[in-house]
Amino acid sequence: MDTTPESPNLTASSRGPSEQSGSGVASSSVPLLSLRGVSKNFGPVQAIQGVNLDVPDGQVTALIGDNGAGKSVLIKTISGIWPPSEGKIIWKGEEVHDHSPRTATALGIATVYQDLALCDNLDIVQNMYLGREETKFGALDEIKMELATNQLLKDLSVSTVKSVRQLVASLSGGQRQAIAVARAVMRDSRLVILDEPTAALGVSQTRQVLELIRTLSSRGIAVLVISHNLNDVFSVADRIAVMHLGSLVSNGPISDYDTNSAVELITTGQSSRVPTTLAPSS
Ligand SMILES: Nc1ncnc2c1ncn2[C@@H]1O[C@H](COP(=O)(O)OP(=O)(O)O)[C@@H](O)[C@H]1O
Ligand SMILES: [Mg+2]
Repeated sequence: MDTTPESPNLTASSRGPSEQSGSGVASSSVPLLSLRGVSKNFGPVQAIQGVNLDVPDGQVTALIGDNGAGKSVLIKTISGIWPPSEGKIIWKGEEVHDHSPRTATALGIATVYQDLALCDNLDIVQNMYLGREETKFGALDEIKMELATNQLLKDLSVSTVKSVRQLVASLSGGQRQAIAVARAVMRDSRLVILDEPTAALGVSQTRQVLELIRTLSSRGIAVLVISHNLNDVFSVADRIAVMHLGSLVSNGPISDYDTNSAVELITTGQSSRVPTTLAPSS
C-alpha cells in the first residue's frame, strides 16, 4: 500500500542550492517579478499609477505605506484580480499577458489575504485540501493528506500545532496564519504575498509568523509582505517598497533605510536620506 506522503513541492532540493537569501544581495540579475509603469484605475479613481517594482527571488520584500496608499490594489494587481489598466507585469524577464488569478497561480504566485479564508468548522487537513482533495479508489485518501500536511508543517518549522486533525476554530491567530500560509505554498509557489499577517497578533505569535516568513525565504520562496509595523519590517525584510498616494516612491535593500526615513517616506512620499524611485526605468 502506497501511503508515502508527497511533500507538497517544498523540498529544498527543488530550489537552486546556491540561491542565497536573507542577506539583501540580489540573488539573480533578472528579478522574479517586475512591474513597469503599472497603473490601475477604477473609473475616475486612480488607485495606483506608474508603479515600477522589482521583487527578487528568495527575498522578503516589505510593502509599506499609509492607509489608502494603494498597497492592496498593488498586490491584487500582482495576484491577477485587477489586471493593470496600464503597464507591464514581467515574470522572470518575460511579459505576462492577460494576467488573471489563474495565470498568477500557474506562475507560482500565492496570496494570503487578511481574512485568511479558512473554514473554522473543518480541521487543518480538510482546510489544506479544500477543493483539491486527494482520492484513492474514489474515496478520500485521508492518510495521504494527513501525512503530507504533517510533512509540510514540519518543512515550514510550524511546531506549535498539536494535531492536524484539530478544528481550525481551535487555533490561535498565529497558528491560523501559519495554516493559511502553508496552504498557499502547497503548490509550487515562487512568490507568496501576505497582507498584514501580524496585524491581529500578540508578541510571541508575531514572532512565529516572522520566523515562518524567514523559513519561506530560506527555501528560496520570495515573499512580498504588507505590514504596518516597522519593527516587524526591519526584523524580517531584505527589501522595502514604499507606496504613497498610489505611487511607489522608494524600493531598495533594507540597509538603505532606517525607521526615520521609512516614516518620512510613508507620510510625505519623500526622504532626504533615501533615493526615491519615481522615474520610470523603462
Ligand atoms: N474596488 C475599488 N473601487 C474603487 N476604488 C478602490 C477600490 N479598491 C481600492 N480603491 C481605492 O484605491 C486607493 C488605494 O486603496 P488600497 O490599495 O486599498 O489602499 P491600502 O491597501 O494601501 O490601504 C484608495 O483610494 C481606495 O479607495
Ligand atoms: Mg490594504
